[in-house]
Order: sequence, then structure tokens, then C-alpha cells
Amino acid sequence: MSFIQSMQERYTTKKYDPTKKISLEHIEELKEILRLSPSSINSQPWKFTFVSNQETRNKLAKVSWHNTSKVEDCDTVIVFSRINNIELFEKQIEETLHPGAINYYKEFLKPQSEEQIKSWFDRQVYLALGVLLSACAEMKIDSTPMEGIEPEEYDKILGLENYQTIVAVAVGYRDVEDQNQPAVKTKSRRPLDEVIKTV
Ligand SMILES: Cc1cc2nc3c(=O)[nH]c(=O)nc-3n(C[C@H](O)[C@H](O)[C@H](O)COP(=O)(O)O)c2cc1C
Repeated sequence: MSFIQSMQERYTTKKYDPTKKISLEHIEELKEILRLSPSSINSQPWKFTFVSNQETRNKLAKVSWHNTSKVEDCDTVIVFSRINNIELFEKQIEETLHPGAINYYKEFLKPQSEEQIKSWFDRQVYLALGVLLSACAEMKIDSTPMEGIEPEEYDKILGLENYQTIVAVAVGYRDVEDQNQPAVKTKSRRPLDEVIKTV
């Protein structure tokens, strides 16, 4: 199947079949795909937490607003968090990146406010979100990106230290009756000539 067809067929799953499980092999593949995500200067200011454990997902479900049943019934919730400690981030890049990348950070990012630096981290995390959603589409795994969660509660439940939850994705397989799937509900997007400019 072509990638465009995968994108036409992917959708935000609203109802999961709790009896359908993702194979361990596929979960391991998703982990490696996330590790391979690109980021500016290869900064990788992130951690991805895979939560398959039902008890922990039930706790997360209680702090997930309208996403409760998705968190309970999917196979795994992948929590995207970004590094919250600038000093730790700087130590990490000093140890892993080449001097050109470190100098770029020192010249263009470091002089900015903490808020701006963290906003730059967040943008890298969102890029990984796009990679994961595309990978799921290609692998025929259903997914739900979720900003409708309480990030601080997620941090507490998962015991995240030095990292802060930004967004999460439920992955699993749809309930056959999910009313949001493209076979039932036509995909809605703005027209091509409004969103694409060709020069
Ligand atoms: C960053 C982000 C956060 C989202 N948060 C939620 C959410 O909390 N709950 C939900 O059901 N859908 C959520 N969505 C799904 C969007 O509403 C959906 O992608 C959009 O309407 C397009 O529909 P489609 O994904 O089915 O093509 C989110 C999407 C993105 C990209």
C-alpha cells in the first residue's frame, strides 16, 4: 500500500477494541522509530514512555478528560515528554553532539529565555509525534493523538523526573463500530489550493 493511501485511511480513533493487542514486535518497532526521529541539531530533548500496564492506564484515564475510554481500552499509551532541566540538557549535548551543533545551540538558543528554549524543545517533541502518527498509519495501527490530558498529573503518575509531559498518543485497534473511521465519516480537510502555495 502506498503512503498516500495510508494517510487517507488513518484517522483519530475514538473507540478501541480492548481485546485486540499490538504485537510485541510492533511495539518494539515503534520504540525504535521514535528513537530515530529527527530533531534540530540532533538535540533529542525528549523521552517517550510506553504504558501498556492496565492499572497505570486506568490511573492515566482518570486525568485524561474526554479521552478516558481511549486510554483504558487501547493497547498502549505513549507519553511524549520533553526535558525540563536546561543544565541537564546542556550536559547531554556536550557529551553527544559534535562541536558545530553545540556552537549553534550556544549562539542561537542559549541566549534566549528559558521559556523560549523550552518552546524549541516542544517543537522537536511535536515532530516526533508526527513521525509516530505516520508510522502507525503505515503499520495499520490505529492511534489517537491527545492533548486533552492533564500533563502534571501524568508526570506524577509516571514519576517523571527532569521531564514534563507534552502530549500522549493512544495506540491499538479500533472497535468495529467506531463512528469516526473514514468508512463511516468522510475525512475533512481544507482544499489543496488553500493550504499549498506553489511558486
Ligand atoms: C496535537 C494533537 C492533539 C489532539 N488532541 C486530541 C484529543 O485530546 N482527543 C481527541 O479525540 N483527538 C485529538 N486530536 C485529533 C484531532 O482532532 C484530529 O487529528 C483532527 O480532527 C483531524 O482528524 P483525523 O486525525 O481523524 O484525520 C489531536 C490531534 C493533534 C494533532
